[in-house]
Amino acid sequence: MTLQRDQVIAALRTVQDPELFKDIVTLNMVKDLTVEGSSVEVTVELTTPACPLKETIERDVTSALKRIGAEHVKLNMTANTRGPAGPKRDALPQVKNIVAVGAGKGGVGKSTIAVNLAVGLARCGAKVGLMDGDIYGPSMPTMLGIKGQPPQVRGNKIVPFFVHGIHSITIGALVEQDKPLIWRGPMAHGAFKQLLLDNTDWPELDYMIIDLPPGTGDVPLTLCQLVPLTGAVVVATPQQVALDDAIRAVHMFQQLGAPILGVVENMTSDVFGRGGAQAAAQQLAIPFLGEVPLVPELRVNSDAGNPTANFETNPILKEALETIVAHVAGEVSKRNLRPAGPSLNLS
Ligand SMILES: Nc1ncnc2c1ncn2[C@@H]1O[C@H](COP(=O)(O)OP(=O)(O)OP(=O)(O)O)[C@@H](O)[C@H]1O
Ligand SMILES: [Mg+2]
Repeated sequence: MTLQRDQVIAALRTVQDPELFKDIVTLNMVKDLTVEGSSVEVTVELTTPACPLKETIERDVTSALKRIGAEHVKLNMTANTRGPAGPKRDALPQVKNIVAVGAGKGGVGKSTIAVNLAVGLARCGAKVGLMDGDIYGPSMPTMLGIKGQPPQVRGNKIVPFFVHGIHSITIGALVEQDKPLIWRGPMAHGAFKQLLLDNTDWPELDYMIIDLPPGTGDVPLTLCQLVPLTGAVVVATPQQVALDDAIRAVHMFQQLGAPILGVVENMTSDVFGRGGAQAAAQQLAIPFLGEVPLVPELRVNSDAGNPTANFETNPILKEALETIVAHVAGEVSKRNLRPAGPSLNLS
């Protein structure tokens, strides 16, 4: 049986991206199509290497091609992370997506979620940066195990550390350890801007994750003024007081014009409860991104500066974190929905 190219493209048009609600040809995900007799070789380019629906798309493409009589199907799955639509932003043009992690409240696990999100995306093959935006109480020297290490300098810029597969910078590496960091409003703005934009030599990145200090203060405002975010992730623990603060944080990001990617529930447990953040997300009509149980390993690995271990030792923790990584990547892709890159020649 001899297949026609048009016929193959029509078959591929029946395959929907289940999250983006359009077919993969319209979404410009089909690349390099070769049709020879009853053999088809096709490359499908996902919008993120952390695509939660890779297997579904793979299966659907194969069955759509078999249905029209393809006897040999060679399917290559690749990924090219997309950034927001429109021209590249002036600040940090080499960074496709900037994602802030915040909460209205201290101690709910913002830094923990930020680190594990960054490491998880990198484990999927994305190029990831992590900026410790907590200029008052930086956590990254400890959580990434880089305490006391001086950063390298290239020209007049600081080179981010490269640890656990991610590029990271923290003010903790530039100031004397364990001294309180007290900034007046304008100084806080300056310190944050210098670290994010002026003094750090960021490489090309698919995702830059920014860990914010607690609360709805100066830093989120500065951040949203300096760079348009792809979106914000809000972290909450299940107790009502934490949820109230999370709702405030959601409203703050919305007021600052930053899209909300969704809410993560952290420290889900018999002690703190479960499900509150999901209910709050539903009430606010924003996505729920997943929950992380309260488990001692997480704190131990954080204190030891070894976030990679969170993905390797406890299968429940690994699955919880990978779910959140996939959901965040999926929400970013949805935000960026648009045709991108050279289109497939369909004529
Ligand atoms: N799911 C969890 N299970 C066990 N321990 C956790 C969990 N999440 C966070 N922790 C621990 O709780 C503490 C606070 O977490 P983290 O520093 O991430 O919070 P934060 O919101 O960034 O705090 P801050 O407001 O001070 O910046 C840390 O010791 C961390 O290791
Ligand atoms: Mg923190």
